[in-house]
Parts: sequence; structure tokens; C-alpha cells
Amino acid sequence: MSHNEIHLDGRRVLVTGAARGLGASFAQALVQAGARVVISDVLHDAGQQLAQDLGPHAHYVPLDLLDAASVQGGVQAAVQWLGGLDGLINNAAITNSGGKGMNELSADTWDLVMDVNVRGTWLVTAAARAHLAASGSGRVVNLASDTALWGAPRLLAYAASKGAVIAMTRSMAREMGADGITVNAIAPGLTLVEATAYVPQ
Ligand SMILES: NC(=O)c1ccc[n+]([C@@H]2O[C@H](COP(=O)([O-])OP(=O)(O)OC[C@H]3O[C@@H](n4cnc5c(N)ncnc54)[C@H](O)[C@@H]3O)[C@@H](O)[C@H]2O)c1
Repeated sequence: MSHNEIHLDGRRVLVTGAARGLGASFAQALVQAGARVVISDVLHDAGQQLAQDLGPHAHYVPLDLLDAASVQGGVQAAVQWLGGLDGLINNAAITNSGGKGMNELSADTWDLVMDVNVRGTWLVTAAARAHLAASGSGRVVNLASDTALWGAPRLLAYAASKGAVIAMTRSMAREMGADGITVNAIAPGLTLVEATAYVPQ
């Protein structure tokens, strides 16, 4: 199905980590389908440029998943610009944790990957929850990864974080279903973006 066949006219969507990579593609596809989209990230120049390129239905908001106050402020700013919230794509993540084996992986890297990919996904979703409930048909899509399913050597922290995303997706779906919010995860396979350019093809 091409983008043009999906109609999301007027839907209000926040995409995290959308300044580049898959998130930027999601933002572009959403705008093409008629949605209004907030692009959020810690890459401010790239995020602002993308919003400008996508036109009046896109807007950039800084949102750092490592900072609870930034998450609260970013979600508020997104909801304010959008006038509500119908969809959240939890796309932001640390995707390259250095390619080290489990005995070389540092505890700091482990913590960073978990803090962004797991804690960050929880914080954004919790901050967005009341707004998604007010929409009456809130939708959350979490980015997992096939590395959580097949076992990925030298990607221990990343794969573990994405396994946690799958587990959180189920818990969130059960907890928020009563508010009409659906929560799903997608688990892409390796997709070539700047962040995966280091992977041998
Ligand atoms: N590309 C692939 O092969 C692939 C495969 C499976 C899953 N995924 C998932 O897709 C999503 C997008 O990945 P990508 O491949 O486009 O990589 P990417 O690194 O380009 O995208 C991640 C984005 O998250 C942002 N980010 C990082 N730390 C952040 C923070 N603290 N606060 C806010 N934003 C932050 C980055 O700036 C970046 O824009 C990720 O969740 C990734 O795990 C990617």
C-alpha cells in the first residue's frame, strides 16, 4: 500500500527521535497521509530543517528522553501545537551501542541504552497518556527490533532494551485499553539509515 492510500487527515501525531533515520521517514509518510506531525529529537538543527522541509503540517519540538523535565515539556509543547494528540510513535533510541561483546560492554553504555530505549519510552508514553485518552482513539506504536527476537551477538544491551520494549508494549496495551488507546510494537529488520551504515552489508 502506498502512502497515498492511507488517510490520516487531521490526525495529530508525535514522533520521537524523528530528526533522521526511520523516524524522519515516519514523519514524512504521516504528513503525506494528511496528519499533522510533531518531530522531536535532541538533534535540533536536523529536526528543525526536516520540519521546514515537510511544510506547515510539521513542527519541531526538542525532547530529550534522558531528562524527565524535557519529556514533560516536550509533550506539552507538542500537544499545544497540535491541539491534542491522537498518536505517538516511540521511535527514539540509542541504536548503536558500540558493537562490543558482552565482556567489553561498559556499565555506562548499558545504562545509557536502557535509560533512553526503555525508561524514555515509558516516560514519554506516561506523559502522553491523558492526551491520547482525550482523543478517544489514541494510538501508540513502539519501535522494537528483530534483534530482540533472534538473538543478536555484540548487541546485548540494545537487544535487551528492545525485548523490554516488547514487554512494555503488552503491559501498556492492557493498562490503557480501557481508555480506547491501542499500543503496538513493530520489530523491523536491519534497515539502512545513517545509524546502521557501520553494519557490513
Ligand atoms: N535501522 C534499523 O535497522 C532498525 C532496525 C530495527 C529497529 N530500529 C529502531 O528504529 C528506531 C529508529 O532507528 P534508526 O535506525 O532510524 O536510528 P537513528 O539513530 O537514526 O534514530 C534514532 C533517533 O533517536 C534520537 N535519540 C537518541 N537519543 C535520544 C534522546 N536521549 N532523546 C531523544 N531522541 C534521542 C537520535 O537523535 C535519532 O534521531 C529505533 O528505535 C531503532 O531501535 C531500527
